[in-house]
Amino acid sequence: MSDKKTGVLLLSHGSRLDDGEEVIKAYKEMYEKEFPEMPVEYGFMEIRKPGIPETINKLTSENDLEKIIVVPVFVAHGLHTKRDIPGLLGVESDFDESQISGHHHHHGHGHGHGHGHHHHHHDDEEETFEFDGEIVLTDPLGIDTRLYEIIKDRVSDNL
Ligand code: NI
Repeated sequence: MSDKKTGVLLLSHGSRLDDGEEVIKAYKEMYEKEFPEMPVEYGFMEIRKPGIPETINKLTSENDLEKIIVVPVFVAHGLHTKRDIPGLLGVESDFDESQISGHHHHHGHGHGHGHGHHHHHHDDEEETFEFDGEIVLTDPLGIDTRLYEIIKDRVSDNL
């Protein structure tokens, strides 16, 4: 553990419906309550605001941060966590296109490294951010017995 002044960004995919925001906001509030000294915000990678730049700007304008830990609140890695989010954050990723399984369809828009912009992204003006500190992108939630318990509950509650 470093003693760098650190902030946390809980990152959700983003949706036009409100459900996802209710969930990520609730986790943000839980975290804030348990760790009141740690600046924490939630944001969305696409479709919904606040996006990644807005959220980082909020964290850094309100706190003198040296490090931001970004937790993608996604179940598994996918193109968003391996390619798009690192691109938007400007952090390194070990992803390359050869990891994509199945047939490759090559259509117009850029799928290169650092290309975080989706075709279903509708904002004209993109906010940008500048942060000289360290940005750490963590793994998504992954395989965990705590999640497995929830899966079992969902089934048993409906038997
Ligand atoms: Ni998407």
